[in-house]
Amino acid sequence: MSRRQLLAALRSRTAESYRVQRRLYHELSFARTGAPEKVLEYHHCSPIQSEPSGVRNSNSVLCIEVHHVPWNPADANTVQGTYPSPYSELSPYRQIHSSEFFPQRSVAGSEGYGRIVQCGGPLWLPLDAVLPIQRGTELFVEDDVTSAAVATLFQLGGTALRMLTDFVKLKPGSTVIQNAGNSGVGILVSQLAKLINKNVAVVSVVRRSSRSPKAVAELTEYLTGTAKADLVLFEEDLIDNRDAIQAAKSQIEAFGTPVLALNALGGASSSVLLQLLDTEGYLVTYGGMSKQPIYAATSQLIFKNIKLSGYWNSRWMVRHCTAVKSAVMSELVDAYLDKKLILPSVKAFGLSDFQAAIQHTATQSHAAIRSKAVFDCREL
Ligand SMILES: NC(=O)c1ccc[n+]([C@@H]2O[C@H](COP(=O)([O-])OP(=O)(O)OC[C@H]3O[C@@H](n4cnc5c(N)ncnc54)[C@H](OP(=O)(O)O)[C@@H]3O)[C@@H](O)[C@H]2O)c1
Repeated sequence: MSRRQLLAALRSRTAESYRVQRRLYHELSFARTGAPEKVLEYHHCSPIQSEPSGVRNSNSVLCIEVHHVPWNPADANTVQGTYPSPYSELSPYRQIHSSEFFPQRSVAGSEGYGRIVQCGGPLWLPLDAVLPIQRGTELFVEDDVTSAAVATLFQLGGTALRMLTDFVKLKPGSTVIQNAGNSGVGILVSQLAKLINKNVAVVSVVRRSSRSPKAVAELTEYLTGTAKADLVLFEEDLIDNRDAIQAAKSQIEAFGTPVLALNALGGASSSVLLQLLDTEGYLVTYGGMSKQPIYAATSQLIFKNIKLSGYWNSRWMVRHCTAVKSAVMSELVDAYLDKKLILPSVKAFGLSDFQAAIQHTATQSHAAIRSKAVFDCREL
C-alpha cells in the first residue's frame, strides 16, 4: 500500500473516531529581548474563552493542536534579539511571532508538529498530522505518532538538504566535509548525502569538548553508524597543526578531496575545513556557534579559487512558493517514513518546564550523543 493509500485509509478511520478533547492555550513568550532563562515566561489561559479572530464560522481555517516544538539555537537567538527576520529589510530585528492572547508579547519557537483538531474545508480531516511551514502546511501520516523528533524535520532537514543540493552537484565519488557533524543539522547532512548518492562520502569533524574517552568512542560509533558518516575527525587534533592536517588529507584522499564544506561554527574550525577543501570548492556557512569570524587565507581565495557562501533556511522559505517548500518537505517526510532518515535524539519537556529545557541544552556538549530539547505542548 502506498503512503497516499495509507493516508486515505487512515483518514476514513480517524474521521470516525475524531473528537476534540481540549480547547486550551498556553505559550512561552517574552516581552523584551535578553537571556532566555531571564526573559521567557510561561502563560496560559484555560480553557480558552475567546479564540483568535476569524476562527469561528470560517471554512478556510485549520485549528492545529501543537504537539511538539523544538528549541533550536535560532530560537534562543531570537529571544536574545540577535536573530533577524527574513521578512523585513528595513527592520531586521522585528519579532514576527506576536502573541494572540497576551498582547505585547512575542511567542518563542519557530516550527513544530501538530494535529488538526478543527477544519473547515474538505482537504483536511481531524487528526491529520501537520508540519506547518511558512505560509503553508505539509500533511503526512506517521506510524509512530508519539515521535517528538519529527518536529525538528523542516529546519534541520530542510537546511541539510538545500545545502547539499544548491551549491555543488554531488556525484558518485564526491566528498562533503562538515564541522559540528554531531549537531542536528550535521547528522541529517551525512544521512541525506547518502540518499542523494550512496557513493558520496561525508567527513564529519566534531570536537571532543569535555567528553570522556568512553563518550567520544560512543559518539564516533554513532556518527559512522546511525548518522552514516564515512570518517570522523576531531577538531582539537587539527586546529593549528599542519602535520595533523596533512595526515587528515591522506586519510580523506581515500574518498576524494572535498568539493563542499558545511560550516556551522566559524573561527578556527572553519579554517580547518578550508584547508581540507578542494580547489574550486565551496565553503557554505550556515551557523556561527563559536561566535568567531571566518578566516580565509589569501591563497585559498586566489590560487584555489574557493568560494565562500552562506545559507539561511528562513530566507530560502520566504523566497520560495508553498509548492516548492512542500516538495522539499515531502522528500524529507518520505525518507523519514521509509525509515531512511533517523532524526536527531530529542528530550521532551513540558512548556512550563522551560528552565529545565534551557539547562538541558547547555549541558549537551558533555553528552556522548546530543539530544535536542523539544517542548511537549499538549499538557498544561
Ligand atoms: N542557516 C540556517 O538556515 C540554519 C538552519 C538550522 C540551523 N542553523 C544553525 O546550525 C547550527 C547547528 O544547529 P543545530 O540545531 O543542528 O545544533 P545542535 O544540534 O544544537 O548542535 C550544536 C552544535 O554546535 C556545536 N557547538 C556549540 N557551541 C560550540 C562552540 N562554542 N564551539 C564549537 N562547537 C560548538 C556543538 O558541538 P558539541 O556537541 O561539541 O557542543 C554541536 O555540534 C546552529 O548555529 C544553528 O543556528 C542554521
